Amino acid sequence: MSDTSAPGAPAARTDRRRREGSLFDLSHPGRTGVALPPLDVPAIDPPALFGSAHRSEVAGEVEASEVDVVRHFTRLSQLNFAIDTALYPLGSCTMKHNPRINEEVARLAGFSDVHPYTAEHLVQGALELLWLLEERLKTLTGFARVTLQPSAGANGELAGTLMIRAAHVARGNARRHILVPDSAHGTNPASAHFAGYSVIELASNARGTLDLAELEAKLTDEVAALMITVPNTLGVFEENILKITEMVHAKGALVYLDGANFNAFVGKVRPADMGVDVMHMNLHKTFSTPHGGGGPGAGPVGVGPALVPYLPTPTVERDGEVFRLSYDRPGSIGRMRTFHGNFGVLVRALTYIESYGNTIPEVAEAAVLNANYLRKRLEPFYHLKYDAPSYHEVVFSDRKQAAGGIHNIDIAKRLMDYGFHPPTMSFPLIVPGALMIEPTESEPKEELDAFADAMIAIAKECQETPELVHGAPHTTPVGRLDDASTAREASKPGSFAPVLRAPVR
Ligand SMILES: Cc1ncc(COP(=O)(O)O)c(C=O)c1O
Repeated sequence: MSDTSAPGAPAARTDRRRREGSLFDLSHPGRTGVALPPLDVPAIDPPALFGSAHRSEVAGEVEASEVDVVRHFTRLSQLNFAIDTALYPLGSCTMKHNPRINEEVARLAGFSDVHPYTAEHLVQGALELLWLLEERLKTLTGFARVTLQPSAGANGELAGTLMIRAAHVARGNARRHILVPDSAHGTNPASAHFAGYSVIELASNARGTLDLAELEAKLTDEVAALMITVPNTLGVFEENILKITEMVHAKGALVYLDGANFNAFVGKVRPADMGVDVMHMNLHKTFSTPHGGGGPGAGPVGVGPALVPYLPTPTVERDGEVFRLSYDRPGSIGRMRTFHGNFGVLVRALTYIESYGNTIPEVAEAAVLNANYLRKRLEPFYHLKYDAPSYHEVVFSDRKQAAGGIHNIDIAKRLMDYGFHPPTMSFPLIVPGALMIEPTESEPKEELDAFADAMIAIAKECQETPELVHGAPHTTPVGRLDDASTAREASKPGSFAPVLRAPVR
């Protein structure tokens, strides 16, 4: 933890990294970051050319030198929490280390400069990459085909549910409902609605998994599919998954698996072998490019034979040594997005998969081991609502601390004083005061220990010096925000004005 009150340390107020404002505050009239060579073509007269549309200056434009700009962004980056500086426990987001080889490969000119409208014979390498990634994902999942088009997990869910709908329509009845457990990610019911279905919620059992009696009761002939997450958002594996898929199929419905948590079993078990019909994967979680709630992603969807006719177009097909885009799929649900997916993320995912090769099960093994290590260290200090075995993440709650008036938000903010990004909070909703921790496979034991030590120290502060936790964070450049007012302000068009509960330091 950085101690700004240590002897000789500058007061926070005088620390330039903390007090600097936005790039606009750095602007100096006449300063520039470029030096253009003398004009060697005839000068034009802009007002004559553009008439009243011509502006002699752009109001508010930043005038800064290259050094101003580089220092500004470097300082900003140092104020940030990042996976490159410490364990980033944002549960459900799988914030793992992004191997640098991925970046090297993604920056190869043949990949980064390729234009989506380039003629197919000139982009054979890019098409081969898409084909090969589909092959690898087929091997890892056991599915007949995988579409790489969806932009992210939620977009994959929509693609999957639209394919489910198309399959039912082809059988003469689209059906009306999709069953979704109460522990599901919010995108699941949203996607089902987008695909034209109403959602029936399934209450979890005391273990935190699907209740078979509840499933039996709600599984009618009007159910199109069950959308289930494995392991679920509590990090608990559905031990009855084979029974569940059997029950759903017996009613003529399909099983959609939310595979956002594939990190927990990649290389160990194939979803198709569990009886799953369709599953999306969050490449930006399981196969690197982590972004935790922003940035580019990719949500490929694998399908069993029954859904192949409805895949989005185009698909990449191989004819001998030639790769081509195919639009020949009369039952297709159509395109899910422009062009062929988030290509850069796909390049990174294939690089990640190829780097591991046959050792890819180690990803799941280490992710599960790390989550369980943290669980064991933190169990004596934080309440665990569901004590079923954890897989890749563990969901504690603030129940022990709430008795003394400290809530998960306070614990999360205090963690920032210890140099860690907060865990995911208040999700899943079935755990009131949730603190969802996912360390991922890329953390060494020392880092896990540093994180556990910080969480344990905070649990002790909650008892001994609660005001310290309640007023946190104390070492960040901006004090505690009033979350509700900030969210309201930020949602106003063109505004971002954080509302402070404590002052800027
Ligand atoms: C279980 C689960 N399902 C679906 C999603 C949605 O994925 P995306 O954010 O890529 O749309 C997430 C996101 O983290 C998730 O954790």
